[in-house]
Amino acid sequence: MKNVLFCQLFVMLITSTLTGVACAVEKPSLEKGKLLFNSLSLAGAVTGKSCASCHPNGAGLQKAWMNPNLAVQVNTCIAGPLGGSKLDVNSVDMQSLILYIRSLKQ
Ligand code: HEC
Repeated sequence: MKNVLFCQLFVMLITSTLTGVACAVEKPSLEKGKLLFNSLSLAGAVTGKSCASCHPNGAGLQKAWMNPNLAVQVNTCIAGPLGGSKLDVNSVDMQSLILYIRSLKQ
């Protein structure tokens, strides 16, 4: 009897852990992109600058949505002025930044 109880507890624990993991999977979002754009620690940045330091509220990036190499350009600005590490093109952070930059389209 005791064993059955333990077994039930164990199953409950595993299921709740798995559900927790499933909920924690993050999707790219415009809101996250905006936060990262203003973050002083994006991609391990060390220079005390954010993207917004040079592009306040996205200034100057209104045509960037047309850039076919947007991720490469974003990484150039991360590795250069921010002193951070380039992001994986398919990462949630990069895709969120791209969503934000595309939202500046004019
Ligand atoms: C020290 C200043 C500086 C910082 C900080 C900076 N950039 Fe830039 N960025 C520039 C300059 C200068 C250019 C080139 C401007 C041009 O192409 O006319 C540029 C160009 C770009 C472009 C290309 C624009 C286009 O029309 O294609 C994108 C996109 C961009 N930056 C995104 C970012 C992002 C995202 C960040 C944060 C990770 C960032 N930048 C941080 C200075 C900066």
